[in-house]
Amino acid sequence: MHEHLASIVRINEAVLVTSSKTSVTFVMINVTMWFIMLLLCPSQLRAQLGTTPNIKHIVVGRCHSYITLIDPSLRYDCEEIWRHFEEAVVHQSSCNVTVEDYHQMFYLMPQTWPCDGFLFWSKTRTLMHSYAAVVRHFWTLEDTLVGFMFNDLIWCGQDEDPGFDFNSCPKWSACRTHPVYSLWRQASQNFAEMACGNITVLLNGSIVNAFNRKSMFGSVELDNLNPQRVDYVNIKVVTNLEGPYIESCSQGSIVDLIQILQSRGFRWTCTDNDETLMILQCIQDPKQPSCQTCANSLLHRKSLTSN
Ligand SMILES: *[C@@H]1O[C@H](CO)[C@@H](O)[C@H](O)[C@H]1NC(C)=O
Ligand SMILES: *[C@@H]1O[C@H](CO)[C@@H](O)[C@H](O)[C@H]1NC(C)=O
Ligand SMILES: *[C@@H]1O[C@H](CO)[C@@H](O)[C@H](O)[C@H]1NC(C)=O
Repeated sequence: MHEHLASIVRINEAVLVTSSKTSVTFVMINVTMWFIMLLLCPSQLRAQLGTTPNIKHIVVGRCHSYITLIDPSLRYDCEEIWRHFEEAVVHQSSCNVTVEDYHQMFYLMPQTWPCDGFLFWSKTRTLMHSYAAVVRHFWTLEDTLVGFMFNDLIWCGQDEDPGFDFNSCPKWSACRTHPVYSLWRQASQNFAEMACGNITVLLNGSIVNAFNRKSMFGSVELDNLNPQRVDYVNIKVVTNLEGPYIESCSQGSIVDLIQILQSRGFRWTCTDNDETLMILQCIQDPKQPSCQTCANSLLHRKSLTSN
């Protein structure tokens, strides 16, 4: 796998130095292949990738961007945050960073948020992004400073200089003290502890174990929600438009989730096929038969109101 990728990259480089029409096509084919491979084997690929290049510039830059443009009320020292991040990770072996190692860093960036907008999700990442973009008051882990800074990055340490391993990092599942996992674990815990008012949980009804005890939501966030702070846990189960329809509010692992919530004293609601979520999916794929009915009923509604 790794060699294969490396050779594609090398071919691309070789091709890029010339600039004929055919080479452009060639590059495009290669880029397409690259994307197909990304789609086919994300986990293997991820295991091969090392620390994201320029990680310091990205992290510190995102931090400045956040405290300057997104939330100017925050007066945090981005360089200091980076220094504590580095202290936890660099010159460590690649799978030996605990959540405690990040405590100093988290201590430098406390954050609170108004109640009622907390959005949790599991295996619904793409849809969650459109949902949060449309329903503006939602607040996800990726909207917090730490989530914003580290989103989509990979990192791990090594004993030798430069202290980060830029060649390869282990998979998340390789150890309990994975540097990336530990950071997200602590970030998720803080986020859940802070949650208050009505919170929303977006789960994927097209997979078995929509509520998975091993997911970040099932293993960290759920246990750190506080029934004294949270009014309602509003669960939304969303399936792919074309199915399969595997789990719902009354079927499969979501029933277990509801039982856990109930036993811990949470009030809850659960909705299958939320209309907003279906419309969002239809915007991306209007040809789906289930969207035709949706469009027809909207047209119908329009003609009724314009009479
Ligand atoms: C892991 O980290 C701990 C404390 O940071 C250290 O004592 C231990 O030697 C490290 N283990 C390995 C295998 O590097
Ligand atoms: C549900 O999970 C599957 C498999 O991970 C994914 O392909 C699909 O997009 C997800 N559906 C939704 C609605 O997020
Ligand atoms: C919280 O959720 C409950 C149940 O869905 C709903 O009745 C209530 O209006 C919601 N409150 C707010 C402030 O959104």
